[in-house]
Amino acid sequence: MNAPTTSLPGGTWTLGDATVTRFGYGAMQLAGPWVMGPPADHDGALAVLHEAVASGITHIDTSDAYGPRVTNELIREALHPYPESLFIATKVGAIRDAQGGWPTARRPQDLREQVHANLRSLGIETLDLVNMRMGDAEGPKSGSLAEAFGTLADLQREGLIRHLGVSNATTEQIAEARGIAPIVCVQNMYNLAHRHDDHLIDTLAADGIAYVPFFPLGGFTPLQSDVLSKVAARLGATPMSVALAWLLRRSPNILLIPGTSSTAHLRENIVGAGLSLSDEDMADLETIGR
Ligand SMILES: NC(=O)c1ccc[n+]([C@@H]2O[C@H](COP(=O)([O-])OP(=O)(O)OC[C@H]3O[C@@H](n4cnc5c(N)ncnc54)[C@H](OP(=O)(O)O)[C@@H]3O)[C@@H](O)[C@H]2O)c1
Repeated sequence: MNAPTTSLPGGTWTLGDATVTRFGYGAMQLAGPWVMGPPADHDGALAVLHEAVASGITHIDTSDAYGPRVTNELIREALHPYPESLFIATKVGAIRDAQGGWPTARRPQDLREQVHANLRSLGIETLDLVNMRMGDAEGPKSGSLAEAFGTLADLQREGLIRHLGVSNATTEQIAEARGIAPIVCVQNMYNLAHRHDDHLIDTLAADGIAYVPFFPLGGFTPLQSDVLSKVAARLGATPMSVALAWLLRRSPNILLIPGTSSTAHLRENIVGAGLSLSDEDMADLETIGR
């Protein structure tokens, strides 16, 4: 699965019938402040997307809720008609209100509307991957996802979705989803400082399912840790580089979708993720989230 068919760090991973680079790109940061409205620098946002694809990245993560519509429309403007190799993952389960909130919207009709909204804003007839996003901004919440995920499985049978995943979900919800239809990935919050999914990652790896951490660099609160800074200084690298390289080394089923609105940061992150971490580095970093 992790074949060296790309020069990007980490090689590739197979998601269903598609092979993607483990180093991907998370597009959320392309929208305006707090993921609302257009970016301050429209051409700069397009440049980041062009740079991502030119670098060989074949996995972009997005949602029609980002902006709303803004991120998908930027992706469409920059990259449509999409290269055959490009895999675009999206998510449903929440919409945006006028205040920038993320109210949940998981009734069958809500989900159908969100899938069609993603198809429209991305300008395609089938979505490569739709994640059923559960929980809320504070994290996963218990409760059945059967009706919501069953609706996505129906939409998959109708030909509007190629692959399914779940996001911001509990272990029980992931198991429940797998009882309804196959999933190719789980997208939950995870990084050097938030290790609650350690066991889940290993279980999914054994089953050939990808784990796609959101907020790999800490999201709106960038990762900060004395140990991380110490390891980074020892390697002559940035803390962000170490955080990404650690994720790639943590498990072969981890796919990266770091977000950035800067081509310079994108290039820096690609190089940084290729950093070689010694066993001593790994042991030191292990102390952060424990
Ligand atoms: N499923 C979900 O519920 C969910 C929730 C949140 C996010 N996501 C997905 O996960 C993706 C990643 O999350 P994220 O973008 O919010 O968080 P992230 O990747 O952890 O961090 C992005 C932040 O790090 C900064 N950054 C990136 N590279 C940097 C560098 N080399 N040096 C300094 N700062 C750097 C970015 O600022 P600059 O723009 O200045 O580079 C941005 O503020 C999103 O794009 C989205 O697709 C999913």
